[in-house]
Amino acid sequence: MSRLLTVDKLSSGYGLTPVLRSVSLHVDTGEVVAVVGANGVGKSTLLRTITGLLHPTHGDIQFDGMPIAGMPAHAIVGHGLAMVPEGGRLFMFMTVLENLELGAFGPTAREDVRRSLDEVMELFPILRQRRTQLAGSLSGGERQMCAIARALMSRPRMLMLDEPSLGLSPVMLEKVFDLIRSVAASRDLTVLLIEQNVADALDMANRAYVIEGGKIAKTGPGAELLHDPDIQRAYLGL
Ligand SMILES: Nc1ncnc2c1ncn2[C@@H]1O[C@H](COP(=O)(O)OP(=O)(O)O)[C@@H](O)[C@H]1O
Ligand SMILES: [Mg+2]
Repeated sequence: MSRLLTVDKLSSGYGLTPVLRSVSLHVDTGEVVAVVGANGVGKSTLLRTITGLLHPTHGDIQFDGMPIAGMPAHAIVGHGLAMVPEGGRLFMFMTVLENLELGAFGPTAREDVRRSLDEVMELFPILRQRRTQLAGSLSGGERQMCAIARALMSRPRMLMLDEPSLGLSPVMLEKVFDLIRSVAASRDLTVLLIEQNVADALDMANRAYVIEGGKIAKTGPGAELLHDPDIQRAYLGL
């Protein structure tokens, strides 16, 4: 396995307010890695910094051996790193198809629009059925699928998802997580999953990092962390 994403001693925040304090983590090609933690610990800030929406105050980020810290967000997507933001952020007054087409970002993705559309609609058949509907008329689970499909339209090598379980029923959550896992396996896609839903995220991830107060508090295989007494006490209500 080769190293795809390396985050090294990253610090980041808003104005004079530091949020992340010397965060280091890595993701290898083909892995599904979770970053879990309570509300407000800096999970979204981490994703925003990796994707170039926020500039770090310290530290390095490498994607596929290339330094990307401080690079503009559109250039980072162009290098194969796509994000599904919290809540999906679809364009509610555009159709499913229009939302998907907007995801075909970058020159190679644009050439492949038709092929990518076929592929994502095969992965998410419900989106083919709903393709002419406005995104605002979709259910929560369908919106999340549409947001994931839109990110896949850029033909990324790595997909980062910010709280995809948010607002989903347990049944929908299981469906969306199963889809993420099968997309990762079938498409040779590397996944970084950010979640407040610690139990389900640890269950689905190969490896995970637990973030507390802007720092990595613990790391290990998902299954191992699920059985860690500290984690069980703090996050799993056991
Ligand atoms: N745009 C912002 N401006 C100032 N502070 C922010 C902003 N976004 C988030 N924060 C603060 O940064 C901290 C981490 O937020 P966030 O990364 O969104 O946490 P999480 O995603 O883990 O819930 C919180 O204290 C939050 O209030
Ligand atoms: Mg968040």
